[in-house]
Amino acid sequence: MSQAKSSAAAHKRITTSILREMKERHERITMLTAYDFSMAGLLDEAGIDILLVGDSASNVIAGHETTLPITLDQMIFLAASVVRGVKRALVVCDLPFGTYQGDSKNALQSSVRIMKEAGAHAVKLEGGEFVIESVKRIISAGIPVMGHLGLMPQSIYKFGTYVVRATEQDEAEQLLRDAQLLQDAGCFAVVLEKIPSALAARVTAQLQIPVIGIGAGPSCDGQVLVTHDMLGITQEFSPRFLRRYARLGDDMREAFRRYAADVRAGEFPKPEESY
Ligand code: KIV
Repeated sequence: MSQAKSSAAAHKRITTSILREMKERHERITMLTAYDFSMAGLLDEAGIDILLVGDSASNVIAGHETTLPITLDQMIFLAASVVRGVKRALVVCDLPFGTYQGDSKNALQSSVRIMKEAGAHAVKLEGGEFVIESVKRIISAGIPVMGHLGLMPQSIYKFGTYVVRATEQDEAEQLLRDAQLLQDAGCFAVVLEKIPSALAARVTAQLQIPVIGIGAGPSCDGQVLVTHDMLGITQEFSPRFLRRYARLGDDMREAFRRYAADVRAGEFPKPEESY
């Protein structure tokens, strides 16, 4: 392949059908969260297939204890910034808590705002059976939907804990049913969060659509992590599934200290850094 051709291929936009083909070819799918333009550009250049504008922004960007407080307007602002930084990756934006549950008309309106105002390529929502009408209505308007099962952080007050989900048979069977319902409703992929590996492997084998895991073991079609966690910018959160690929928190603290020391000592800026 010529260099021009291979660089065009490198920039070929990831679509939902490409993701489906990747599953068929047993090619693993990469997904990480993004919340701003600069980080989105770096993730995209590194070849990450899906950038998730996760409502985890409520935790890692806004500093809330849960994902519940973040608003649709705030998600749209973040997603629009991410979309501007991307040439290749598929940008999926979370529908925040309260914008899709219970009322499918509301779900569609929220999704339309995300697509129109942020320019995102798809939306993600949490739940199975109880959100299926919303899923169908959003998809009927031509908007791709990614499901999310297992640990669903928007339901934290229902469960009261972030422990592994679907360890009991009835919950595992409900999850298998929910995954099938999401696929039948037209979802293009499903995220499975913090469930036993064996169950995730069953879901992955059962579904034709890609299954992306976070704390769901190695059999999923792809993996996702929260970027701030895998980079070590957040440091308190240390579940077993989190592999840290960098210690940026330490590097950043050290850079900030050195900068402050230089400014206080009159060492920055130097004449050659001045006009
Ligand atoms: O909001 C988020 O970052 C997510 C991932 C954990 C999958 O939903």
